[in-house]
Amino acid sequence: MTAAATELHATPAPKAASRQALGTTVNIPPRRLDFEFKAEQKPRYFYGNDPFLSSFWNTFSSLLPQGEFFFVRSVRAYRDRITDPTLNAQVSGFIGQEAMHSKEHDSYNKMLVEMGFPVDKLDRDVGKLLKLVGKTLPKSVQLAATACLEHYTAIMAEQLLRDKDHQGMMNDPDILHMWMWHALEENEHKTVAWDLYQQEVGSYALRVFTMVIATVILFSVMAVFQGRMLAADGKLFNFRENLKGFRFLFGFKGLFAALVPKYLDFFRTDFHPNDHDTTALLAEWKQILFAPGGELYGQLKNKAAVGVH
Ligand SMILES: [Fe+2]
Ligand SMILES: [Fe+2]
Repeated sequence: MTAAATELHATPAPKAASRQALGTTVNIPPRRLDFEFKAEQKPRYFYGNDPFLSSFWNTFSSLLPQGEFFFVRSVRAYRDRITDPTLNAQVSGFIGQEAMHSKEHDSYNKMLVEMGFPVDKLDRDVGKLLKLVGKTLPKSVQLAATACLEHYTAIMAEQLLRDKDHQGMMNDPDILHMWMWHALEENEHKTVAWDLYQQEVGSYALRVFTMVIATVILFSVMAVFQGRMLAADGKLFNFRENLKGFRFLFGFKGLFAALVPKYLDFFRTDFHPNDHDTTALLAEWKQILFAPGGELYGQLKNKAAVGVH
């Protein structure tokens, strides 16, 4: 387990239980699923059987255990100042959900290491970067960065929940389920860091300035890490395949091009994450995954605590 995951899970059980209970009251239930990822049973290239695209999502996964722990730290830094009981419960749900995401991606990333991908080294490097951010930047900037990166995760997750072709590219049911569960919960808690930022910091200038910097850093880190993943896999110089994969993501009709309008909404002065209405979408996916008989119903370990019967 990474240092980040160890620290998160060192939290005493009663605290975890109260996070589950509080989060569930505001529809941000931290669901525990305990995925088991065994290298010998999983495809090396889970996304479209494609080395470049699979590496891209695996690189993204390499950022998550440390990244989500950074989100938790930045929100926790304001915890004592929250007086609104609803926001307080939402923060509990947020921390609980991100802790579970960190845990499951940590387990997934370990499988990637067994497959020979340098995800442990990427995790270590992103941890160092975020530690430096934590030591040097004011907590207001750290909360702004969390609100920015949560906007990314919310719009990417919404796209995955809506786009059947995108889902259909994943050729392993467990890996697909991990991403769909994560996507559902990212949208369940998408307002939390935003509302906390608006309430406790509120600066529009800081929000948009941080988004520009966060975007540059995110894509620079992703590019370097993707290069390291492809090099370790012996695929770095497969120019034709890599270009095809790059176009699939960033070309004119690519997945990220489709996200640009929603990304830009963040720069509106009057934007709120709920302007992207995902109410019906979340109800649909909760039904598909967690209703009795749903695809992950049997795997859900804390049914009662998260209001599933
Ligand atoms: Fe997450
Ligand atoms: Fe999140």
